[in-house]
Amino acid sequence: MAITLDDLVLSVIAAFIGLGVTLPVTYLVVDRLIERNEKKRLEPIEVTAKERLRSKLGVGSLTTLLITLSIDARSSMEEKRALPKEVSQVYITKLKALQSDLEMLLGVYNDVLSVEVEHLTGNIISQIEHLQEDLQYLIEIHPRHTTQTHVDHIEHVILTTVQLTKRELDVVGEGNEQIKALEEWLLEQEQKHIHPKPEEAIEVSGKHRVWSGGGRLSKLVRVADAGEIGDGKSKVVRAEGRTLAIFRVKDQFFALNNACLHRGGPLGEGNLEGYRVVCPWHGWSYDVRTGAFEIIPTLKVKSYPARREGDSILVELDE
Ligand code: FES
Repeated sequence: MAITLDDLVLSVIAAFIGLGVTLPVTYLVVDRLIERNEKKRLEPIEVTAKERLRSKLGVGSLTTLLITLSIDARSSMEEKRALPKEVSQVYITKLKALQSDLEMLLGVYNDVLSVEVEHLTGNIISQIEHLQEDLQYLIEIHPRHTTQTHVDHIEHVILTTVQLTKRELDVVGEGNEQIKALEEWLLEQEQKHIHPKPEEAIEVSGKHRVWSGGGRLSKLVRVADAGEIGDGKSKVVRAEGRTLAIFRVKDQFFALNNACLHRGGPLGEGNLEGYRVVCPWHGWSYDVRTGAFEIIPTLKVKSYPARREGDSILVELDE
């Protein structure tokens, strides 16, 4: 049978239709494969990026800086004095360094960071800039003392920074109790200022065991001989992979994590005055009964129930 012109035209049309369907599908499949391989290749870089962000935002860096800044600003206001110029300058220098570190991380890792992380980091940088301007202002008005209005403003900027940081630490996978406690404290300060409340007594006794309830497992560990620690003294011990500070006040024993919230100073080597221990490195003080930091009581070093049984000091450790 002879091939007509119509047959040829039809075959050409069929070929085009075939190409029209298969080509986009092929491109789609190839695109997906490239995308998947690219994602795999970038995974370790993403892990590094998150790790670096965590270390810049967490305790020891931005979080610690925000804690100390809020304490310094508030104390200067309460003591009716100016924040010393050199102190403001040190904060500005540290904040500037942090700002450029964060900007650098954003630049280097922009291929692997999610839009949310980029957005949060960008906003944190703006707040850090804002704080530098506020501190610069305090330097300019020196020696006028820090007023309630200054502190309210600075604490508000810190609170915004804290909330952004908390969100970002959640996103990059870091639980951070300190930043949550700082947020709680700042909110409390803000609340007090709007609706001043009379001082309320805080119940301290009997709180030790709260954390060990709720079905969580705990383990009783012997950490020392009672005779090793005299009244008003302390000792650093290792137990189940943890370093603990054990304190004795008369016949009561208390156990805290040994690391100070500020820069990890050894609390077990600090001075014990009544129930108050003072960190030997820079003087932050804590209530050994609760682990509460004196200035911001919602910030706490972890405490463990401790007791004496015969000659032994026992500590209840959670697992
Ligand atoms: S490490 Fe600075 S006060 Fe404890």
